[in-house]
Amino acid sequence: MKTLLIALLAATPALAAKPPLDAGPAPHPGAEVYRNVCQACHMANAQGGVGAGRIPALAGNRNLAVSGYPILVVTGGKGAMPWFRGNLSDQQIADVINYVRGNYGNRYKDAVTAAMIAEMGVAAPVRDER
Ligand code: HEC
Repeated sequence: MKTLLIALLAATPALAAKPPLDAGPAPHPGAEVYRNVCQACHMANAQGGVGAGRIPALAGNRNLAVSGYPILVVTGGKGAMPWFRGNLSDQQIADVINYVRGNYGNRYKDAVTAAMIAEMGVAAPVRDER
């Protein structure tokens, strides 16, 4: 199955040879999630800023050193930061955390996995269906 997927990807030139969109960090599965979801608040350069409250920089952020912290914040939300469990897959959450922990001046090498998100993440709030 995995071999088939790789073969399919290799046979799809548009996917295989996707050029970088900008001169930013190297292509990464979490980069797209960052651009689509996190960038609106944390900004393209991850420097944060002032929007609906103060948005902390993720660039050069020592709070990312222990992966459990971003896992809790991204799955469960914090203050004005929304939670993403239930909106993003566990894999997407792992990808974007790996992306910010490995870019923007952060050099944390230990990878976060989807299994870690499933195990350590805050559960998505149950929707009230009334
Ligand atoms: C709606 C705006 C918004 C979006 C979208 C958003 N964040 Fe945040 N984020 C915040 C705010 C505000 C805080 C500060 C929360 C606090 O400490 O009260 C924060 C805090 C954080 C922190 C903790 C930083 C620290 O030093 O304590 C991390 C990690 C983080 N965000 C990652 C992400 C990632 C990854 C995404 C995309 C999946 C994302 N955020 C999307 C607004 C946002």
